[in-house]
Amino acid sequence: MLKRKDLVGLIDVTKEEITEILDVASEMKAHLKAGEKRLSYLHGKTATILFYENSTRTRTSFELAAKYLGATVINIAAGASSVAKGETLVDTGKTLDAQLNDFLIMRHPMGGAPYLLGKTVHASVLNAGDGMNEHPTQALLDMLTMREHFGSLEGLKVAILGDIKHSRVAKSNLFGLKTMGAEVYMHAPETLIPKGIDRLGAKLCKTREEAIEGADVVMGLRIQLERQQAGNFPSLAEYADFYGVDCAALKLAKKNAIIMHPGPVNRGVELTGKVIDHDQSRIEAQVFSGIAVRMAALKLLNDYREYNKEKNV
Ligand code: NCD
Repeated sequence: MLKRKDLVGLIDVTKEEITEILDVASEMKAHLKAGEKRLSYLHGKTATILFYENSTRTRTSFELAAKYLGATVINIAAGASSVAKGETLVDTGKTLDAQLNDFLIMRHPMGGAPYLLGKTVHASVLNAGDGMNEHPTQALLDMLTMREHFGSLEGLKVAILGDIKHSRVAKSNLFGLKTMGAEVYMHAPETLIPKGIDRLGAKLCKTREEAIEGADVVMGLRIQLERQQAGNFPSLAEYADFYGVDCAALKLAKKNAIIMHPGPVNRGVELTGKVIDHDQSRIEAQVFSGIAVRMAALKLLNDYREYNKEKNV
């Protein structure tokens, strides 16, 4: 059982906890593959999805996950809520608590927002991406996709290329993969590497070739144009030429390597079209893993809530 009320980041999640989430996610996948989309683990529970930033796959994936588990699901677009009238995050949280929500699934442009919310509400908070900080369920779905292909994460060489500086996906993957015994190699223009990431365990590479050589996983990350006020490289075309992954660069990876990207992809920028559509690409498999992992996280957090309820009686 997960021993935590909220799932806000992988920085302090243990190997046992990650393994448990991935194991339950595999069971959830088996249910979904058997066409079982009406499970009852969250029957009678309410989940509110509160997104202050754009999203296609993460929002729909959380919504499907909660619905497949039998929860009542409410969607709030921040632009249409009282947040637009100036309400603070904590006050919004208190309102949602008063409505007896069990789960708050939140995406927010500011790092740390879900931590603050989690501390102030009774509901369990799931971080669906906070600024440039963490995106724990994305890294979990990435790890599930890798584990399905390789059997284990221990000793894998994972090369992450792209906009690492602005990427919460890179940070959550670094924390999770290191905990699970994999090695994380990173490459990007100097201006897109956050200071100190090597002290967190990433191996920084001077060239794209060095990062990809012998890799089991080649993961591209989107150039986040919406977070690039400073302009960190001359042009997208030059980025693609010098830093993008094409079929020639991919040849350096292991023969059975897989290609991953959290999406949305800037086609032809971080990965060429051929790499995205390659037989070794797992980009669509990642989307399916996303539903299973979010079902697992919701189920396990719910188990902990139920356990605490029984203990208090
Ligand atoms: C990522 C995100 O929002 O952090 N996308 C996702 O959740 N699938 C990556 C991105 O936006 O580039």
